[in-house]
This record gives sequence, structure tokens and C-alpha cells, in this order.
Amino acid sequence: MEIIIQPTAARATCVAARLLAGLIRKKPSAVLGMATGSTPLALYRELVALKLNWRKVRTFNLDEYVGTSPEHPQSYHHFMWENLFGQVNIDKQNVRIPDGLAKDIPKFCASYEKQIRAAGGIDLQVLGIGTDGHIGFNEPTSSLASRTRIKTLTPQTRKDNARFFGSEAEVPHHCITMGIGTILDARHCVLLAFGRNKARAIAEAVEGPITSMNPASALQFHPKTTVFLDEAAAAELRLKDYYRWVYDNKPDWQKI
Ligand code: PGA
Repeated sequence: MEIIIQPTAARATCVAARLLAGLIRKKPSAVLGMATGSTPLALYRELVALKLNWRKVRTFNLDEYVGTSPEHPQSYHHFMWENLFGQVNIDKQNVRIPDGLAKDIPKFCASYEKQIRAAGGIDLQVLGIGTDGHIGFNEPTSSLASRTRIKTLTPQTRKDNARFFGSEAEVPHHCITMGIGTILDARHCVLLAFGRNKARAIAEAVEGPITSMNPASALQFHPKTTVFLDEAAAAELRLKDYYRWVYDNKPDWQKI
């Protein structure tokens, strides 16, 4: 894993945006895995500001709430169109987000996996992390080999996400999420985490044992993961001085 610690979330986001923009310029038909939540919001704003050509880009979102229509203001469909897709020249046909209203959820999940494969796999997957270490909505004890499927949100995640819904009672109990196995198949995983409330989950994911109790720790198995942190989210990393040293001494050809 490459750990990039920046003084602020804004600076870390800026470097991450450069990385994504570089991929889209180099490969105009790149397949991107997208994430929602508060963490990638600034990243999407930066990408919009860069005025990239999204015409051939294809996207697959990590997850969606079950029972939530695309028009629902808290649906991830709505989030993506509001914050990114509606502001760039992406072709609607190239956007895939799990269908929260799917009648046959297992069938939908199998077809989502098939569509990812048919697109040639995901070139770069954007990830946030939950305070419990979840990636996508793969909550603790999710199988590290899991594929796209229905999951039940933990009480902690429902509490964390209540701020978007107005009250905890309105947060759905279920979601469709890519599995950890699905995420690990992406050619490059880019995890962003900002703020002190993510510091424990990040320390466990990066330096702890690989365990389904912290699903993000499975990224230690991934050959190419880049983790972007602000100082607060890096607070509990034992080797943070080493990660800074590595970043400051990167050979020119490796620089983002
Ligand atoms: P957040 O959520 O970006 O809103 O903190 C991250 C996550 O739950 O994956």
C-alpha cells in the first residue's frame, strides 16, 4: 500500500484528483469505480473543475440503499448525478449504479458482476472507509472473498449516515454493495479518509492484521492501493514518518 499523508483534506483531494485525471487523459475509455459519502465530494468537485472528457468513461458505483428510488434525495443515484455525472459530459449509457429497487436482488447482483467483467474490469476504484472499517457497505465480518450482494447495515453505520437523512429511523436497513472480492479485482484501489474519526479504522486497515473485523484491511492483499489521508486520519499510524519519507523521496517517474 502507498500511504500519502497531506496536511489537509483539500491537499490530499487535490493529489487524488490529479491521479484520476491522469488516468482519464491517458485512457479515455477508463472504467472507474465510484464511491459516495462526504469523503469523495471534494474530489468530484475538483474533477468537474478540471473539465475532462468523460464521453467514453464507464463507471460502476460501489453501492446503493435497498428500497430507495433513483429520485430519492439520499439515493446514491441522486448523489452521483448531483455531484458529478450531471456536471460532466458522461454518456448516461456508461453509468452503472446498483438498482435499489431490483425485484430479484440476487439476480441483479449477478448481472452487476457480469457487467463489470464485460467492461473489462475496473481500472481504478475510489473508496471511502467507515468508522468501523467498511469499504463499500461491506461491514465487519463480511467475507473477504465476497461479491456483489445484499448486506444489512450495522447500527453504527446507520447512526453515521443519519446526518444525511434527518433521522436514524429513515436510514434504510439494507443495501446492495460490491463485495470485497469485487473491489480487490480492481486494478488500482484509491482509498480516501479524512478526519480524526477515521484514524482508528485507518490504522487497523493499514497496519493491523488482515481481518474481516476491519474489511478495509483486505486491501493489504491488493497489489496496487493508494491511501490518501489528512493529518487527522493519519494520527494513529505507527509508521507515519516512514510513509512521509517514502512519498518525499519518490523517483520522478513515480510521482503523481
Ligand atoms: P463518509 O463515509 O465519506 O461519509 O465518511 C465513508 C463510508 O462510509 O464509506
